[in-house]
Amino acid sequence: SLTLSVMFTSLLNVRQAISIERQLIDLLETYIEHESERLEDIKRFYAKVSDLHSEVYSGPSASMANPLVAFTLIKRLQSEWVNLVYSNEAQENTQALRSGYEEVEEEEGYFPKLEDLQGAAKGLMRLQDVYSLQVGSLVRGQFKRINNGNLIDIYSPIISIPLSGDDCFLVGKVAYEQEDYYHSVQWLEESVRLFRGAGGEWSPENEGTLEDALDHLAFSHFKTGNVSYALSLSQELLNYDPMNRRVSKNIEMYERLLVEYPPLPSAHTELKRPKTTYLRTRNTYERLCQTQGTQPRHYENPRLFCDYFTNDSPGLLLQPIRREVLSLQPYVVLYHRFISDSEAKSIQDVAQTGLRRSVVASGEKQATAEYRISKSAWLKETAHPIIGRLDQRITMLTGLNVQPPYAEYLQVVNYGIGGHYEPHFDHATSASSPLFRLNTGNRVATFMIYLSSVDAGGSTAFIHANFSVPVVENAALFWWNLHKNGQGDGDTLHAGCPVLVGDKWVANKWIHEYGQEFQRRCSPNPEE
Ligand code: OGA
Ligand code: FE2
Repeated sequence: SLTLSVMFTSLLNVRQAISIERQLIDLLETYIEHESERLEDIKRFYAKVSDLHSEVYSGPSASMANPLVAFTLIKRLQSEWVNLVYSNEAQENTQALRSGYEEVEEEEGYFPKLEDLQGAAKGLMRLQDVYSLQVGSLVRGQFKRINNGNLIDIYSPIISIPLSGDDCFLVGKVAYEQEDYYHSVQWLEESVRLFRGAGGEWSPENEGTLEDALDHLAFSHFKTGNVSYALSLSQELLNYDPMNRRVSKNIEMYERLLVEYPPLPSAHTELKRPKTTYLRTRNTYERLCQTQGTQPRHYENPRLFCDYFTNDSPGLLLQPIRREVLSLQPYVVLYHRFISDSEAKSIQDVAQTGLRRSVVASGEKQATAEYRISKSAWLKETAHPIIGRLDQRITMLTGLNVQPPYAEYLQVVNYGIGGHYEPHFDHATSASSPLFRLNTGNRVATFMIYLSSVDAGGSTAFIHANFSVPVVENAALFWWNLHKNGQGDGDTLHAGCPVLVGDKWVANKWIHEYGQEFQRRCSPNPEE
């Protein structure tokens, strides 16, 4: 249906997928029971008939004279064998399994599609890249980073889930189909290793085989210039599949190439990661996702301080907020314990049914994008009494008017596998942006509340300011997006790092320029 959205963009849908699989397990259990009964019946018939042959028919001919022996023998040959051999029971059992499966697939709006699988595979590769994860350890279910030749654990899962040769084949194939041989080589290498280790054991659930993995791996190596390796993999493949003409032709071509252009012994080309649009800031972005940048040294700067803050609001006098000034240019502060556990949970619950794949401004329109992978919902004040209370609290803290149309509705975001938001500005950078539709100017400030913790990853990184904020559950991050003259502040370029492990939820309140004139001029923005 049209409301279907992509599963991998939100962890919530992973939970729904778990309940889908539970239904399939029940179906399979029934199927196994019926098939076992069927096989038991066949074995009983087999035992009965073969016993007759060893005990009665091979005995003295006197027993053959028994009319009952003759009758039952003829009856079996005339009727029983036919019934057994042409029984429909196996098909009926399979049919019941299939129609049960199809029912689940049709009824469940969250049944994953090919697109979801590909998205999840891309999510894994994104995590591999951004956190410099070693593929070999990932395949063993561990999260380790290569650092100057050493492997360091960056997260230790309670249960490690190793990947199979077929799992790796799938990830490698997704990369291969995008002509991304940097990733396809690494994942298919693991796939071939695991398939070889399984000794060519066939599993009915697998999509690929050792031959398929060798085929894709050989071609990936050829595309990246490693012809001699492509040749030896193809020769191995031909051993398993001697009649494969395409492979024999490739082998001829590789041999010819090696004669015409013999590889230099020193020529070892390091494979490069495929380019992305954000290449310019990619290194800084990834470093900030892996570390906090300059953030841990903030205590050395007396102008970056912590205090109990009331903003002279009567409503905060008895319960000041813990304020942590993180950066002066751009001006970024973190308000600790802004929201309570139960409020955060309620907002997640209210948002759940409204979650849709997040979009970004694309010219005058909005569109989904690889650089923003999450699901989001917009909550009006009427959606739950908590929303209005949060609006009031934001106003008390910032002095800003957050009533529509001076601010947007609350946007609740849930990130999925490898979910992220690559470096971007929250404010509009072109006059035709859909953000101007409210007719209240640009997004002057961002108030972002962390509604959850995460187990690893998911920091908010400020690229030019060289720091990142790890997810602090129940805290809120505030910054000005515009200079006081209304121009966009380029230093606010920021990103949501990919979530490595966990279920990250944030809520954004975007406050617009109009209706804020007094606060805008008089509130701190020390560098201006
Ligand atoms: C955003 C954003 C950062 C984060 O939603 O615009 O920048 O850490 N999010 O989720
Ligand atoms: Fe943002």
